[in-house]
Amino acid sequence: MVDYTLKEIISAKDIQNRVKELARDIEEDYRNREVSEVIFVGILKGAFIFLADLLRNLNLPAKVDFMRISTYGLNTVSSEEIKITKDIELDIRDKHVLLVEDIVDTGYSLKWVVDYLLTKKPASLKVCVFIDKKERRRCAVEVDYVGFTVEQGFLVGYGLDYSEKYRHLPGIYEVCFSGVRT
Ligand code: PRP
Ligand code: MN
Ligand code: MG
Repeated sequence: MVDYTLKEIISAKDIQNRVKELARDIEEDYRNREVSEVIFVGILKGAFIFLADLLRNLNLPAKVDFMRISTYGLNTVSSEEIKITKDIELDIRDKHVLLVEDIVDTGYSLKWVVDYLLTKKPASLKVCVFIDKKERRRCAVEVDYVGFTVEQGFLVGYGLDYSEKYRHLPGIYEVCFSGVRT
């Protein structure tokens, strides 16, 4: 068994404030471009809380869809190992799409999903990521909206999990392992 503790690195209050700012930025950008409707696509499972908070702070006509991909194991080394396990259900052709992710780590998931959605010929595709984590980036991805930038650490909370645990936590925590294995 590995012992660990959770250390708060972003409080629930800071998250809510930042989400409001992001929502304002997004709203303003789409208004300026005179976009009348945006389809938000969340990547399950991690993005579900961020997407819900973002939408509830937005004053913009929005539709919502989800997709889920599997990355075969914890350490994805190649985007070729990615498969769709649930596709989007709305037709995004000629629509304005905002892809919403909880975290970009190596970048493989996001890059793959962006390339996939582009094959469906949306009018525009922008990317909004709650946490941009730099440490393990292997694949360059363009992100239009970033909530927080974090250098490193195994993060949980606000949708992010450790073996499916802690997604419900309202803040972001770093998992600190004590290194004891018995
Ligand atoms: C996590 C996270 C991102 C992805 C980021 O999802 O939610 O989707 O990994 O990793 P990458 O940048 O290295 O590709 P995960 O596969 O754990 O599924 P989950 O969202 O259901 O937890
Ligand atoms: Mn995910
Ligand atoms: Mg996960």
